[in-house]
Amino acid sequence: MKFKIKSKLRNYNLEFIESYKKKIMSYNKNQLFIIDKNVFNLFFKNQINIKNFILVNSSEESKSYLRISNVISKILQKKLNKKSMIVAIGGGITQDIVSFICSIYFRGIDWEFFPTTLLAQGDSCIGGKTSINFGKFKNQLGNFNPPSKIYIDINFLKKLRKRDIQSGIGEMSHLLAVRSHVNFSSLNKYFAKEISLKDLIILSLQSKKFFIEKDEFDEKERKLLNFGHTFGHAIESATNYKIPHGICVAYGSLMAFWISNRMNFLTNKDYFRYEKILKLIIKNKINFNISKFKKAILRDKKANKNKIGFILSYGCGKMFIKEMKIESIFLNYIKKFNHQIDFK
Ligand SMILES: NC(=O)c1ccc[n+]([C@@H]2O[C@H](COP(=O)([O-])OP(=O)(O)OC[C@H]3O[C@@H](n4cnc5c(N)ncnc54)[C@H](O)[C@@H]3O)[C@@H](O)[C@H]2O)c1
Ligand SMILES: [Zn+2]
Repeated sequence: MKFKIKSKLRNYNLEFIESYKKKIMSYNKNQLFIIDKNVFNLFFKNQINIKNFILVNSSEESKSYLRISNVISKILQKKLNKKSMIVAIGGGITQDIVSFICSIYFRGIDWEFFPTTLLAQGDSCIGGKTSINFGKFKNQLGNFNPPSKIYIDINFLKKLRKRDIQSGIGEMSHLLAVRSHVNFSSLNKYFAKEISLKDLIILSLQSKKFFIEKDEFDEKERKLLNFGHTFGHAIESATNYKIPHGICVAYGSLMAFWISNRMNFLTNKDYFRYEKILKLIIKNKINFNISKFKKAILRDKKANKNKIGFILSYGCGKMFIKEMKIESIFLNYIKKFNHQIDFK
């Protein structure tokens, strides 16, 4: 299974492969591998003999601007030249670190990517965004720098923690929702074991591909992929990043559908169908500090004075941006949502 992704920066290929080991052994030794430390311990140590590698920690702190300089120092010691290539192996954090560094090192060097988490396989590996934290401010720095090749081996997912699988499904759910009702409903088929996780990944990537090929640089249609994210990011911040990104995004999507329903954009029938699916992913109510949540929304990249463009929905595949006063969202919706939503 192969995809070609059209990009103004570089067209690139994504390929599902049977054996990451075989592929990695086929490189010609001029590549530098940058690998998530946990992935290295689980899949490489005493199993694959590679010499030229650097390990990175996959914590939010390690993708901060200052900590990234440690990785750059290590790369400098490897004496790369402009023609060298870096191969990144890991999840979204490893991807963000490597893609950002490769965009500035020698004004840009080539890189390839083996995503190893569900979130990275089903979402972040395509689209080309790089996102780096600055201090405690998440994803404030970045640019666009897609890898030249992406290799997906779903065998990596066998050792993923349950919450990272749950997070990956949460992240994919927003792409499926934004694309179409049929794609979002495939989650029901997945939970009923009628389709596989690989099928879900393919549908999710196809959903994202549709938007990034239309609007690679996030000026128009791609903005809709922020569905669930304004609230999702604020929940991450208000819970001190203890809850994985994709679960917060699914929760943010639930909030956005709930508000859409209360504002009469979304029918009760559709709302309850969507709520049922999202609750299968989220599982438990998230309690968060409401004033921290509000502060995070005010800090959001998209906020302008006291207003923000929220993504609401007439139904899956029919999202739209609605400019709203942050204060009114709180008074009229967020507090009520917190009070009324239950997971019993
Ligand atoms: N650039 C983008 O387009 C984009 C899009 C979405 C998310 N992101 C970013 O991605 C990050 C989250 O990514 P993530 O969820 O992949 O997290 P991650 O990279 O931190 O990985 C999650 C955990 O799983 C471990 N791990 C990785 N692969 C494994 C495997 N195969 N088996 C067992 N454990 C494994 C990691 O060591 C880590 O502990 C966030 O920082 C988010 O902002 C970026
Ligand atoms: Zn996301």
